[in-house]
Amino acid sequence: MKILVTGGAGFIGSHTVVELQNAGHEPVVLDNLYNASEKVIGRIEAITGKKVPFYKVDIRDREGLNRVFDEVKPEAVIHFAGLKAVGESVKKPWEYYDNNITGTLTLVDVMRKHGCKNIIFSSSATVYGDPAFVPITEECPKGSCTNPYGWTKSMLEQILTDIQHADPEWNVILLRYFNPIGAHKSGTMGENPNGIPNNLMPYITQVAVGKLKMLHVFGNDYDTPDGTGVRDYIHVVDLAKGHVCALKKLAPGSGLSIYNLGTGHGYSVLDIVKNFEAATGIKIPYVIDPRRPGDIATCYCSAEKAKKELGWEAQYGIREMCEDSWRWQKQNPNGYDG
Ligand code: NAD
Ligand code: WQD
Repeated sequence: MKILVTGGAGFIGSHTVVELQNAGHEPVVLDNLYNASEKVIGRIEAITGKKVPFYKVDIRDREGLNRVFDEVKPEAVIHFAGLKAVGESVKKPWEYYDNNITGTLTLVDVMRKHGCKNIIFSSSATVYGDPAFVPITEECPKGSCTNPYGWTKSMLEQILTDIQHADPEWNVILLRYFNPIGAHKSGTMGENPNGIPNNLMPYITQVAVGKLKMLHVFGNDYDTPDGTGVRDYIHVVDLAKGHVCALKKLAPGSGLSIYNLGTGHGYSVLDIVKNFEAATGIKIPYVIDPRRPGDIATCYCSAEKAKKELGWEAQYGIREMCEDSWRWQKQNPNGYDG
């Protein structure tokens, strides 16, 4: 199937393009390179041995999108493009609402005008807010988000739901990702954060490689087994494969579906430190700091619905997630810049 992958040069998008090609699909990447390097295209091609058509276009650029749709004629869109830094979204809410919401509205309008009404959308566990219960099932009520980034995901879920209800020709899958980490086994593709990482695993790998001095653990007084925050970390390659499985479900008449993509297991911050040390033999010095505003104690999913309906479940465990994150960081201490 010919698939337009918006944000396909980014962390999750690039790994998904590899898995799409491996599965025999024809992905085409569209990305404005705001948070990505064009070098990733060559890395994907080196892994799969197949060409990846690439368009440097912003999803808010209607004319640019029209040109791409005229040329590519995709059957479906996997929509990763968006800004995702929680802290930055608090400081720049307009930019986040404009990029994520205006961008998606423009994309969806161009899609329907070109008769392409199949979309898989990158949503997030953040829409559950402080979850009403764990493990979180898809029936868990959406919660109150603590930042504009989270609200863009929650609002876009609602927007896509309303559009599908109004026009049943649309087939929409909302995938709620938990905490993606890890990298491609080759060590040639991975997460490439700008500046000091906000997320736990890239922070740890930068401590390991000597770019940062020590990890700051945000709080050890949560109601969790060791007092530190518990999350559902998932290998990015497993997450990528989840999209390939979801595509099969995106058949005419499939309507609207929602799936959690996680492993169903929770690990604390200190569990991750210990597992990283065991997997790599590198000591990660850390200090306990106060809680980070907006953080919750525990977040992990039930992945049963995706297993039952998509035939998908995560294959990689925490050791591989740590080993693969480290291989990428070690081989590319400055990300795609060297
Ligand atoms: P990423 O920043 O690596 O990838 C997003 C890509 O979108 C980047 O390549 C960026 O250049 C591109 N982009 C941003 N705005 C664009 C625009 N206006 N036009 C065209 N391209 C644009 O992030 P990621 O971690 O790969 O996340 C992919 C998607 O998954 C995002 O929508 C994100 O919100 C969502 N998500 C990520 C996580 C996570 O922890 N990484 C968790 C849940 C959901
Ligand atoms: C994990 C745990 C921190 C960094 C975020 C977004 C969420 C989703 C995934 C996109 C927490 C602790 C972290 C550090 C630490 N993204 N931590 N020191 O907060 O679960 O989720 O990314 O949708 O929306 O909010 O992930 O990796 O930032 O934190 O102690 O330097 O690690 O407190 O318990 P989080 P994270």
